[in-house]
Amino acid sequence: MKLNIALLAGDGIGPEVIDQAVKVSNAVAFKFGHEITWNTALTGAAAIDAAGEPYPDETHQICVNADAVLFGAIGHPRFDNDPSAKVRPEQGLLKMRQKLGLFANVRPTFTFPSLIDRSPLKRERIEGTNLVFLRELTGGIYFGKRGRLNNGETAFDTCTYHRSEVQRIAKKGFELAMKRSKRLCCVDKANVLESSRLWRETVQTMEKDYPEVEVSYEFVDAVAMRLVQWPNEYDVLITENLFGDILTDEASVISGSMGLMPSASVGEKAKLYEPIHGSYPQAAGKDIANPLATVLSAAMMFEDFDLTDEAQAIRNVVNKSLTEGIVTEDLAQNGKAHKTSEVGDWLALHI
Ligand code: IPM
Ligand code: MN
Repeated sequence: MKLNIALLAGDGIGPEVIDQAVKVSNAVAFKFGHEITWNTALTGAAAIDAAGEPYPDETHQICVNADAVLFGAIGHPRFDNDPSAKVRPEQGLLKMRQKLGLFANVRPTFTFPSLIDRSPLKRERIEGTNLVFLRELTGGIYFGKRGRLNNGETAFDTCTYHRSEVQRIAKKGFELAMKRSKRLCCVDKANVLESSRLWRETVQTMEKDYPEVEVSYEFVDAVAMRLVQWPNEYDVLITENLFGDILTDEASVISGSMGLMPSASVGEKAKLYEPIHGSYPQAAGKDIANPLATVLSAAMMFEDFDLTDEAQAIRNVVNKSLTEGIVTEDLAQNGKAHKTSEVGDWLALHI
């Protein structure tokens, strides 16, 4: 297969982790006889510096023309400490999600047997966890009306959803549940929010189309609690943008390191793969960041092209590196930490 992939390294540790995912993907392509063309483009603070905006048109064109986008991370501390900054790196990510129509963010949470005791949660609670969040990504409070009133003394952000936006993410949720254990949890706050009542009502009317799927409806506050108490009771969860943002960070704790969790963002046509962690500026340029979340995001990419063996080859080599202790400092024991680039080289060599 010939693949044309847009490569958006972004900020902070983005370029370093992306380099490793490219190494590993190229090794997979070589082994299985595929050809990958990588087209690099600027995004985030790097794009603000070069082009004055975080998601330039040129970058968008490269993404539109690609079969998929592999993305590193976005964000720079010089903007975080300046609430008055008008142009921010994160806007690039939001604009990209919106312009590419990436409405469904797929965030799996699973455990690695060799890392189970690294999680702050007790082994017996998390063993066997294998759940997937489908976070709505182009609606809700992230994209609603916002502003200031009363000479700036009052601020507002509004959460808006149209039924069709709920239907399309719920459809993905039902379809994914059908492929997995046929359980779907709709996470909302329907006891308080009108937008959540629309979510619940919409999902309820879709239940008849998927009679085999057992649907539960839970409030987001309860899910936040149960997620760390009994994570393996969940399978597929669908939720709106902000709830999904918060719950997926929480869920990443289950695996033992945020540096391990991959994600996919998909729309009708476009597909983007990225680690769920941020740009980790403190580690930028030090060759110490964990590249596995990005490498596993590349595995999700292969999977979505129906290249299942290729995806599995990546997951297998990642498991092997974890068991053999070829890991970066966040996972290292007894001071035996490897560099980001060494982990990437090792993975590519052992594919
Ligand atoms: C994420 C990030 C983004 C989000 C930020 C960087 C805008 O936290 O992908 O989860 O809030 O969606
Ligand atoms: Mn987030």
